[in-house]
Amino acid sequence: VTAQPRMRGDVAVLVPAAGLGTRLGPGAPKALRHLAGVPLLTYVLRRLVKAPSVGHVVVAAPVDGVDAVRAMVIDELPPQLPVDVVAGGPTRQESVAAALAAAPARFGIVLVHDAARAFAPPDLFERVASAVREAHEAVIPVLPVVDTIKRVDDAGHVVSTMRRTQLRVVQTPQGFRRAVLEAAHRCGPAADATDDAALVERLGVTVHCVVGSEAALKITRPVDLLIAEAMGLATDARQP
Ligand code: C5P
Repeated sequence: VTAQPRMRGDVAVLVPAAGLGTRLGPGAPKALRHLAGVPLLTYVLRRLVKAPSVGHVVVAAPVDGVDAVRAMVIDELPPQLPVDVVAGGPTRQESVAAALAAAPARFGIVLVHDAARAFAPPDLFERVASAVREAHEAVIPVLPVVDTIKRVDDAGHVVSTMRRTQLRVVQTPQGFRRAVLEAAHRCGPAADATDDAALVERLGVTVHCVVGSEAALKITRPVDLLIAEAMGLATDARQP
């Protein structure tokens, strides 16, 4: 008698991984850059496997890296966690839209997670997924702001100082009822939307905040790779 693979969760995770990562310096697309010998995208996949809510993954890969990403993904994910790899678009928003279109219709909860936040821990995916499942149409993980933030004009003059206690640093995964995210994308491109929550805010949907994670830092500049390593986030590279 062969055991049936255990059914996984009710959440589809969309992973925009099509960015070039030019701020990281010359080299492969960012999601395929290595840290401690392992591509950033692989760290993401390993954490998704450990988040029981996740039932499906769609990766938006660089247009000329779809085959390479598909091979990597097949190596990394167990058969119980299906994954699709689609070609991303010229903007992050278009990459997310391509992944959303490929997510199977049965998933009513969708999380969007930047491949660049390679070390976001499994419990962060669970926290965001639970908040959507239990109560909210849109959920983002946030952390307090440590710096003072000022609004500055084009001439480099300070316009105003924001009240720090009202500010938050915003991370991914961001979670949505699927219909809400689809409606947000139907409204078309928003040049100033740097995350998915900004798109649903246009619809007047309330976005709920949950506590983020220091481990979910965004790998953008070369120093971020050093920080991630110093924080001990890449230790699974050394596991068998
Ligand atoms: O450029 P930025 O750092 O904001 O990118 C955030 C995430 O969006 C990264 O994981 C990157 O790979 C992804 N992205 C994408 N398609 C693009 C641009 C960025 O999937 N055209």
